[in-house]
Amino acid sequence: MACKLSPSILSADFGILKDQIGIINESTADFIHVDVMDGVFVPNISFGFTILDSLVSYVRKPLDIHLMIADADKYLERFAAYKPEYLTVHFEACQHLNRTVHAIRSLGVKAGIALNPHTPVALLEEIIHDADLVLIMSVNPGYGGQKFITNSFQKIRKTKALITENNAAALIEVDGGVNSSNIKLLADAGADIVVAGNAVFGAADIKEAIIELKSSCL
Ligand code: DX5
Ligand code: ZN
Repeated sequence: MACKLSPSILSADFGILKDQIGIINESTADFIHVDVMDGVFVPNISFGFTILDSLVSYVRKPLDIHLMIADADKYLERFAAYKPEYLTVHFEACQHLNRTVHAIRSLGVKAGIALNPHTPVALLEEIIHDADLVLIMSVNPGYGGQKFITNSFQKIRKTKALITENNAAALIEVDGGVNSSNIKLLADAGADIVVAGNAVFGAADIKEAIIELKSSCL
């Protein structure tokens, strides 16, 4: 099954970020994945509003914002102002996830829920109807370039089954360690959108890597 591709700018060269985004704009990528990390929920700090403020003026692909932060509620309005396609929060970082998801939707943005590798899919049972996207983390969040956790395949299948059983409409996204040798298996397991950082920005030819990744999941 075909899948959509969301290149993660966490692996981009920030010294030439505008040029790298220009390449993504001209490519066949479907989204631009933006990893926001706070050094509290995850052991790394990436970037925040200052970078995003300038970035949105030249991004021509829909934004796919992945928040790896504590206290996401405080910042939802500011992230929604960038008019992303998806704004995703972590299951493990939200005390009142139902409230958070509805707050995102009331800002006119599709709401995603991310699950860390250790979090069971079954915990989504009571909220699957409220989600537009479920993001399965296939590495522990915090860094690009990590090794794919193979247990993620069965988590994708379980998520697909949960969505079908509940007649829900959420899409499934997979994030971490995606490359040309596992992307087809991920799409076959039920992934609708795959994130790729290193596999895109680490390639000698970024545009060609995107074409290759997308064609290997057909
Ligand atoms: C990890 C981030 C990912 C990361 C993926 O915490 O959420 O989006 O950038 O990078 P790769 O594809 O290199 O694993
Ligand atoms: Zn991410």
